[in-house]
Amino acid sequence: MAEPLKSVRGMNDLLPPDSAKWHYFESRCRELFTRYGYQEIRTPILESTALFSRGIGESTDIVEKEMYTFRDLSDRPMTMRPEGTAACVRAYIQHSIHKHEPVTRWFYSGPMFRYERVQKGRYRQFYQLGVEAYGVAEATVEAEQIAMLYELYGSVGIEGLEVLINSVGSGEDRPRYRQALVEFATPFASQLCGDCQRRLTSNPLRLLDCKVERDRERMKDAPSVLGSLGEESRAHFQSATQALDALGVPYTIAPKLVRGLDYYTGTVFEITAKAEALGNQSTIVAGGRYDGLVESLGGPSTPAVGFALGVERAVLTLSGEAEDYRNKPHVFIVSRGEQAAAAKLGVAAELRQAGLYVELEHRPTSMKSQFKRADKLGAQFVITIGDDEIANNTVQLKDMNERSEQSVPRDRVGHTLAALCGE
Ligand code: HAM
Repeated sequence: MAEPLKSVRGMNDLLPPDSAKWHYFESRCRELFTRYGYQEIRTPILESTALFSRGIGESTDIVEKEMYTFRDLSDRPMTMRPEGTAACVRAYIQHSIHKHEPVTRWFYSGPMFRYERVQKGRYRQFYQLGVEAYGVAEATVEAEQIAMLYELYGSVGIEGLEVLINSVGSGEDRPRYRQALVEFATPFASQLCGDCQRRLTSNPLRLLDCKVERDRERMKDAPSVLGSLGEESRAHFQSATQALDALGVPYTIAPKLVRGLDYYTGTVFEITAKAEALGNQSTIVAGGRYDGLVESLGGPSTPAVGFALGVERAVLTLSGEAEDYRNKPHVFIVSRGEQAAAAKLGVAAELRQAGLYVELEHRPTSMKSQFKRADKLGAQFVITIGDDEIANNTVQLKDMNERSEQSVPRDRVGHTLAALCGE
């Protein structure tokens, strides 16, 4: 027999009932983002490799080591998107969105691809839900995004939340901080990992998000970026934190938070959750301001800020069994005999048209096993149809919670059930 094929490492199937938990969380996000004025955008999974190398930064871990890149049949370098921001910016520029509206708010969702070391909460195909706002330079917009996330995670019951916030400064502040980092790390440069030794000259900020434990330890006492901020960046950061205070969102200033992508300017943030299910991957959402990216990818100078949340990580922290999130049938139709088996299809179609979730058994099984199935699925009501019911033009309607039963005329069943189920 042929060896059965398996899915690719780090890329998972999502099966029911787990998909119900995902659906619950994703619907909450969509509904909330919409209430804050974000509209959905969908961009392709494949983009030109240059979009990510220019957008995310040549010397980031993502671009250096983690991209799924290949040449297509026309020999063009293609990459399966490792994140959503660069593609949103490409679309913003390509469709001249700035000409149509001064402020743009988008949200997106879908799979992202990174060739990372697979562990709990870290996969090679993972799902993000993200939002991006273009055209607003005021720090209240990032504070509002953080408050929206805080509301989201609170409302779905994710516990142990911590909002971490920092500023990585503007393009003008960056050389000062780069210099401070180089001066700090040069004395022990030869003891750093090979990547960090290169980054010390190419992109010193990346020293702060190296994943090698020994390097992290060495960089623990590195100077804080907040000390290198110019007047404008400092004022911007202050208005972001003041807006969070006004919105009642608790936060911690995390001076070492720099994020793993090069496009950030000014405010950056992450939210972590305390949950055993997350293993070492406690960051459930991350984002920040990227005021230079639209221009650097060929568009007009445009302030921008956004975030992306990891759907797997959020779902891992949701309490309860996946089964609890599954919709339960309003009604299960049990039949006895061939005539009734044919009749129940018509009843089911009618009830479904009335908006009810209806289950039934197509195989010729006993009434007992049909009732067992109804119980297993958690049906609220069971309708029974047998020869007597067909002769009388009625059905038997049983309330599975109260265990009460009544005979209902066939032409009243839709009406009666819709009223009982509040549909
Ligand atoms: P990121 O920090 O690379 O930022 O990813 C955001 C979130 O995606 C992480 O906090 C995590 O929850 C989830 N995530 C990332 N990698 C994985 C993985 N391998 N497995 C599971 N979950 C993962 C961005 O992607 C930016 N585009 C965010 C952004 C939007 N900044 C501005 N706008």
